[in-house]
Amino acid sequence: MIEILTSAQLSKARATGALVAHILQTLKSRSIVGTNLLEIDQWAKAMIMDAGADSCYVDYAPSFGRGPFGHYICTSVNDGVLHGLPHDYVLADGDLLSLDLAVLLDGIAADSAISFIVGPTRPTTSVALIDATQRALQAGIAAAGPGARIGDLSHAIGTVLTDSGYQINTDFGGHGIGSTMHQDPHIANNGRPGRGYQLRPGLLLALEPWIMVDTAELVTDADGWTLRSATGCVTAHSEHTIAITDDGAEILTLPK
Ligand code: MF3
Ligand code: CO
Repeated sequence: MIEILTSAQLSKARATGALVAHILQTLKSRSIVGTNLLEIDQWAKAMIMDAGADSCYVDYAPSFGRGPFGHYICTSVNDGVLHGLPHDYVLADGDLLSLDLAVLLDGIAADSAISFIVGPTRPTTSVALIDATQRALQAGIAAAGPGARIGDLSHAIGTVLTDSGYQINTDFGGHGIGSTMHQDPHIANNGRPGRGYQLRPGLLLALEPWIMVDTAELVTDADGWTLRSATGCVTAHSEHTIAITDDGAEILTLPK
């Protein structure tokens, strides 16, 4: 199903997006050397509850995981790239942490992910990896607007990732979002321009480029959720929820 939001729903989507961005930035500032992933999950839960919002993850039981997820945020560290199930792990200097959060507020969902390095050490490979996912995300957003097609966004994202020297896995990608977190259309992180569903004002999309340094192959953890690089290499993920407007795209999950 593809949803087109009314302007009243779009106002709500802005509020949800701002909340997701605020929670992610707060959690980023608290993710220091010595922080446990389970603390991050509890802080996420508290902030979601305090805002009167609902988690899109806690009861989520899709075919690609051993559901329900049972936690409030995805915490993926180093070789962990997507759907990282929070577990008893203490962050160390130089860890690459990806936080992915989706909540429902007043009936509208927003979804965003950030990747960053914990502590003062800045491994060059990790810095480049994060930068590539952020540039790919910006390219996807720049390609979005009324009349553009999903393939235009996929192509823009894929071009940045490929030109940066990374292989692309298209098993997981972006998606429509609205009254629920995962909706059509699917937005692969690579594709051909001019193909696919044509965007129109009122459509909400989550774009989410992710990459692994030296492979396109994923393995699933024993926890049934966490997806890791098959080679153990470091990984990164960047995601925003955007709204298609009359004259382009508005990022709803930008930090203030
Ligand atoms: N934001 C993630 C995505 O769009 C959702 C994670 S699903 C969960 O793929 F089940 F892992 F929570
Ligand atoms: Co998403």
